[in-house]
Amino acid sequence: MNPLLSKASWMENDDIRPYVFVRPENQIAHPGSAHRLNWFNKSPVMKDPLDIPELAFADRIYSLEARAFGPSNMAMPRWVFYDCAVMPGFVAGFAARPSALTPAMREVLDPKKFPAINSPVQSSKVLKEVTSLDDMDWVPLSLFIIIPTMHKGEWVAHNLTSINSLLPEGQGLYGLGFLSKAFGLWYANVEQCSGMTQWGSPALRLHSNFGHMEIIGAYAPVHSHATTVTYRVQVNTQVWEKFFTKEEDYAFLENYGPTGRFIDPKDEQSMLDFQKRIEREEGPFYLSAREIAQKKLDEKLMIYSLKQQY
Ligand SMILES: CC(C)(COP(=O)(O)OP(=O)(O)OC[C@H]1O[C@@H](n2cnc3c(N)ncnc32)[C@H](O)[C@@H]1OP(=O)(O)O)[C@@H](O)C(=O)NCCC(=O)NCCS
Repeated sequence: MNPLLSKASWMENDDIRPYVFVRPENQIAHPGSAHRLNWFNKSPVMKDPLDIPELAFADRIYSLEARAFGPSNMAMPRWVFYDCAVMPGFVAGFAARPSALTPAMREVLDPKKFPAINSPVQSSKVLKEVTSLDDMDWVPLSLFIIIPTMHKGEWVAHNLTSINSLLPEGQGLYGLGFLSKAFGLWYANVEQCSGMTQWGSPALRLHSNFGHMEIIGAYAPVHSHATTVTYRVQVNTQVWEKFFTKEEDYAFLENYGPTGRFIDPKDEQSMLDFQKRIEREEGPFYLSAREIAQKKLDEKLMIYSLKQQY
């Protein structure tokens, strides 16, 4: 195993594998050919979201996602998953054989205790409900939804959820969320990835490690959550390693310098001020992954800009 991944030793378990939930027409032609990386050696479990027998797999995805995003009122309606995720893009993540699930995982994934909200299986006369995890071949543990955009090479990261946020502390699989996104970006040969999250979200700790994080929107009143940050990264696997090593990113320090101004996740005005600077085209502006990792989620973050190039 790559020593970088030693904190994620669960990756060695043959009963935990990456999965790709994609309709056949959207399959990637040459998966993993753009980025040199030896992290993902096992062939993924392939599933077609439009196949009726995969409804139970989709419903476990919904169930995880609803508990992750329900509290912030962003649980994904089923039509959004269908129309905006699996039709144009795909879902990737990790899945486990039922026999590999710990009791705590079984508890939070249990279809009887946590059915997928609004699943037609509950009212349909023609669909058969799967009520036991043991009746599934693979059970999803995480999901990363990625959608191609009209801008060549650029994809949008639409959703990232991992079972870790539902498990008692210390009982999760370290790096599951991070590696789910890493796998999806690697598999689909993504060169540029944009995404949205809310200021102060733990997800910033992950999203900032896939390439230097440019902030292209600091305030988004068009979104249901105005305090949304919109970012873009040029995918760079050398940056990925630092998620595990926590080493200084000298390339970041060489290229970007502090502006002396901060973004405060508790202060909407600081977001609006930052947004106005972006709109006045004073950027590009960046955040430092190392600083995000070292600070508390609600602490102010330094805004960086490109150093003068000679
Ligand atoms: C955010 C989320 C995807 C992270 O996935 P994960 O599998 O828990 O995280 P990973 O194991 O990959 O990464 C671990 C790192 O994230 C940090 N992290 C994860 N959740 C955290 C939290 N709630 N608060 C602070 N840090 C957190 C860990 O401290 C760790 O960093 P470290 O190595 O410096 O200690 C997951 O918690 C989740 O599904 N949350 C709910 C939905 C959500 O917010 N999604 C993101 C929206 S864009």
